[in-house]
Amino acid sequence: MTARERFDDAYYRRHYQGPDRVHSASQVGRLAAGVAGMAAWLGVEVGSVLEVGAGPGHWRAWFRRHRPSVRYVSTDVSPWACRRWGHARRDISAWRPRTPFDLVVCQGVLQYLDDAAAARAIGNLEAACMGLLYLEAVTRHDLDEVVDAERTDTDIHAREGEWYRDRLAPHFAQVGAGLWAARSAGIPLYELEGAPVHSRLRRQSSAARAGSSAARLGRTGLQES
Ligand SMILES: C[S@@+](CC[C@H](N)C(=O)[O-])C[C@H]1O[C@@H](n2cnc3c(N)ncnc32)[C@H](O)[C@@H]1O
Repeated sequence: MTARERFDDAYYRRHYQGPDRVHSASQVGRLAAGVAGMAAWLGVEVGSVLEVGAGPGHWRAWFRRHRPSVRYVSTDVSPWACRRWGHARRDISAWRPRTPFDLVVCQGVLQYLDDAAAARAIGNLEAACMGLLYLEAVTRHDLDEVVDAERTDTDIHAREGEWYRDRLAPHFAQVGAGLWAARSAGIPLYELEGAPVHSRLRRQSSAARAGSSAARLGRTGLQES
């Protein structure tokens, strides 16, 4: 089935309207507020956001309302969603932006891609992100243990969490709660804030931090805004 056939009017009605929807605009608004708050805490000034697979556009609605000066680019592969919600039509497995963004959001997308396409998409997310990535992708464990199968689309490529971690770890430090910090940004993380760090990656992060303004400011020097 092509993206055009799969992500149509009926798909969004089933998953985004009515009592069995996966999440509402206000739930995503709380998530967006949390991510924006964490970005501020970590010293990432969010002036630009790329959203991948934006669907009904709940993240964009929050940013338009609460951060109207942010440059926001929302994309989706579905022609129907792009027409309905005004996103740029992009397939994240085959496209990366020319210039990177402070925050990249990719919620509920990668599980629809087969292994090869998902690996290419992760490479494109890495190229697109110079600050923080918010990533949610349903894994095999989630299908078995976490999701409500009545409300969740289970016709997906369910991979192990390790599959994602192996591909993300060279470029991102896992902050937690879906947030990943681009290693190139040199965002200083306290040891217990994130996932355990392999010593080789720890050395890479220290080198990136040495050249970043975040390291010079230090976490105790974050400014009020
Ligand atoms: C479960 S919905 C998530 C929508 C939104 N991110 C949210 O969480 O509310 C999955 C979305 O991913 C989009 N999508 C699927 N494959 C994609 C791809 N290769 N590139 C970009 N978007 C894709 C679909 O069109 C659909 O809008």
